Amino acid sequence: MGGSMKSATGAYQLYIDGKWVANSSGKTFPVYEPATEEWMAEVMEAESADVDRAVQAARKAFDHGEWPKKTPQDRAQILFKLAAKVREQLAMLAEVEALNSGKPIVEAEGDIGAVAEIFEYYAGLATKIPGMVNPVSANALSLSLREPIGVAGLIVPWNYPLLMASWKLAPALAAGCTMVLKPAEQTPLTALLMADWFEEVGLPPGVVNVVNGFGESCGAPLVAHPLVDKIAFTGSTEVGKSITKSAANTLKRVTLELGGKSPNIFFADADWEASIDGALFGIFINQGEVCSAGSRILVEKKIYSKFVEAMAEKAKTIKLGPPMDRASKMGPVVSKEQYDRVVSYLEVGKTEAKVASGGGRPSQFAKGYYIEPTIFYDVDNSARIAREEIFGPVAAVIPFENEGEAIRIANDTPYGLAAAVWSRDIYKAFRVVKSLRAGIVWVNHMQPTCTEAPWGGYKQSGVGRELGPWGVEEYLETKQVYINLDEKPIGWY
Ligand code: NAI
Ligand code: MG
Repeated sequence: MGGSMKSATGAYQLYIDGKWVANSSGKTFPVYEPATEEWMAEVMEAESADVDRAVQAARKAFDHGEWPKKTPQDRAQILFKLAAKVREQLAMLAEVEALNSGKPIVEAEGDIGAVAEIFEYYAGLATKIPGMVNPVSANALSLSLREPIGVAGLIVPWNYPLLMASWKLAPALAAGCTMVLKPAEQTPLTALLMADWFEEVGLPPGVVNVVNGFGESCGAPLVAHPLVDKIAFTGSTEVGKSITKSAANTLKRVTLELGGKSPNIFFADADWEASIDGALFGIFINQGEVCSAGSRILVEKKIYSKFVEAMAEKAKTIKLGPPMDRASKMGPVVSKEQYDRVVSYLEVGKTEAKVASGGGRPSQFAKGYYIEPTIFYDVDNSARIAREEIFGPVAAVIPFENEGEAIRIANDTPYGLAAAVWSRDIYKAFRVVKSLRAGIVWVNHMQPTCTEAPWGGYKQSGVGRELGPWGVEEYLETKQVYINLDEKPIGWY
C-alpha cells in the first residue's frame, strides 16, 4: 500500500514512487479558503531535494518500468478507471475545489465533470496513435514510430486546479510518459486527493508523482532538472518566459499556455440579449480568473452607449456569494495576493477610464476576497487596463467605428490566446475571424472549451496546443526507422 495521504501531524505529504512520503525539510505551508480567509489544510513543502526524488522516480519508471511498454489498450483501461473514479467522487472533488479556489460550486461541478471527460477522451486516444510508412526507395522500408517523450514536468495554476492538471496528465499518460506534477501552491488539494487513487486504478509506482511547493523553490528546480525531457506549463507569461530560458540549458521541450487580453467584439447587428450576456459571461465567469477572459470588450459606436448601460445594469444583478451557495454566480478571487493585484488595477483603471459599474469591494461581505464585477468604459486600447492581464472581474469597454478599426484594436496586443466576434452578418463575422491573430476564435459565443478541439495561443499567449489529438502530440517524439531490403546495400568501396 502507498501509505497515508497525511502525516502524523495532519499535513498532506508528497506522492513519490507510488507512496505518500514526508518532505526532507519538514516545512509545511497553509492552504486557505478565500471566502472565509480561514485555514483549510496544511501541505508539505517540496524543495529541490524532494523534486529530485520525484524526478528520479519518474525517470526510473520510464527507463525501467512497464508503463511506456504497456499496450495502449492496457493504458486506456487504467485511464478509464481513473475517469470512473473521478465521476464517482465528483461531488467531493467539486466541494474541495470550490472551497479552496473560491469558485461557485456549480462551476466546480462542471470543472470536475470535464476532468472525467478529459481522461475518457485520452483513454480513447491512447489506442489511436499510429505511426507511418514513409514513401522512400524501393530498396528500403522507412517507418515513423511515435514514442513517448520521456519524463514530463507538469506545472499548473490555481484557476482551474484539477482541470488544468488533467489537460496535461491525461495526454502524457496516453502517450506513455511518466511525470512529476506540481499543482499551484494556492490550490494543491484536489490533485492530492486524485493521487490517492493512482494505485487502486493500476498506475505503476513512479508514473505520476505529485510535489507541492512554490514557484521558485519547487517549480524552477523541476524545470532545470536534467532528467526531465519536457515541461508543460500553464500560468503567467512572465513565468513562461523564465521557463523557456531555463529549459534552454537542457533543450527540453516546452509547451506553454499563458496569459491573454482577449477581445470580445460586438457589432451593431448582433443579437442584443445574447450580446449583453456574452459580454458579461466572457469576463465574469470564474471571477474573471480565466486565461481566455474576454477582458477587452469592443463595441461598435452605433450601439456603444446603450450597450455600456445595459451591461452595467445587468452586472449589478450578478449574484456574488460563498462558493457552496448554489445560487452564487461569482465567488471571491483565489487569494489575498490576487485580491491585492486586482484591486490595484481598479485604482489604475479609475485614473484611465470611467466606471460603469462596480469598482471595489462589495459591502455585504465582512470577510473574503470578493470583488465587484467591474466595468470600465471609454477605455483607450493603450491604457494599462487594456494592455495588462488583470485576471479578475474587470472589463475594459472600448468603442470602435467600423470593421477595420475593430480588427486593428483587437490585434493591437502582445497576446493572442482567444477572441470572439458577435454579428448576424456571416460575411463580416468570418472576415474578422480570419483577420484575428488568436488561437481560439468564437462566433456568437465566448468561452466554450471542447475536449476534442485545439487550445493554445498565438504570440505571447503560448507555445503548442492542448486538448484533442494536438494535446497528445506534445508528449510524443518521432523516430524514423530505415530498414534496408538490399543485400548489398553500400557497394562503395
Ligand atoms: P504564476 O505563473 O506565478 O504561477 C503558475 C504556476 O507556476 C504555479 O504552480 C507556480 O507555483 C508556478 N511557478 C511560479 N514561478 C515559477 C518558476 N519560476 N518556475 C516554475 N514554476 C513557477 O502565476 P500567479 O503568480 O499565480 O499569478 C500571476 C498572474 O499570472 C495572474 O494574475 C494572471 O495574470 C496570470 N495567470 C495566468 C493563468 C492562465 O491560465 N494563463 C493562470 C494563473 C495565473
Ligand atoms: Mg507568480
